[in-house]
Amino acid sequence: MTTLQQAEAAEHALSQELDRVVVKSVIFTSGERDPRQPVQRPPDQGKLYMMGHDPRLPKMPDKPTLFDFFRLRFGPSAHLMQSARLAMKNGLPEQIVLACLLHDIAIAGFIRSDHGYWSAQLLEPYVDEEVAWGIRYHQALRFFPDESVGYKYPELYVKLFGADYVPEPHIQEAYRYARDHKWYMTSRLITVNDLYAFDPSVKVELEEFTDVVGRHFRQPKEGLGFDQSPAAHMWRTINWPTRYL
Ligand SMILES: [Fe+2]
Ligand SMILES: [Fe+2]
Repeated sequence: MTTLQQAEAAEHALSQELDRVVVKSVIFTSGERDPRQPVQRPPDQGKLYMMGHDPRLPKMPDKPTLFDFFRLRFGPSAHLMQSARLAMKNGLPEQIVLACLLHDIAIAGFIRSDHGYWSAQLLEPYVDEEVAWGIRYHQALRFFPDESVGYKYPELYVKLFGADYVPEPHIQEAYRYARDHKWYMTSRLITVNDLYAFDPSVKVELEEFTDVVGRHFRQPKEGLGFDQSPAAHMWRTINWPTRYL
């Protein structure tokens, strides 16, 4: 058996144990399988298909808050919390601390590719426009130094992408646009506090940011995902990533 076949067999065995049949979205498997081929629907084995909570995941409360997503869907989020703490230590305004806490939530719990844009879209209904804007553009700004604030091209990016990586034209265009925008510094300050070599021995608790989030994140009373905002469906997908529809 190839590695892929082994993985599929293991997954098949796992799904046998579930009460519901799980069909993965194309984006979960693209690259592992050829996206030009139709996704084979697994045989239903007399079972119903997954249409809600996946028992393999920790269950979210009925009205989930931002912190519920941090605890149950976004992993330990040490990078986000350490960046926010650094912004706090640097005496930056609460809106910047919030932006640092949330800047990579797409990587933490949703989709890596174009994470600045996805993160901003997830947050737009709930934070000030300037915070979402800053988060959207931090992705592009990370590739471009700014001596005026001591921001250099990240060494980590040389390691990750190679010394000859050049940002694509659409990223350069986004950079030029952001560079001339009145909110440039909001986005730039995210990159300045974007800790990539954080200390694993330093422990940051989510509770340190309770007040900042309470003051600047408009938590919907129905719970994130159930408030009919333009981003609610994205939060629902993070909550229930394996629903058939
Ligand atoms: Fe980022
Ligand atoms: Fe980051």
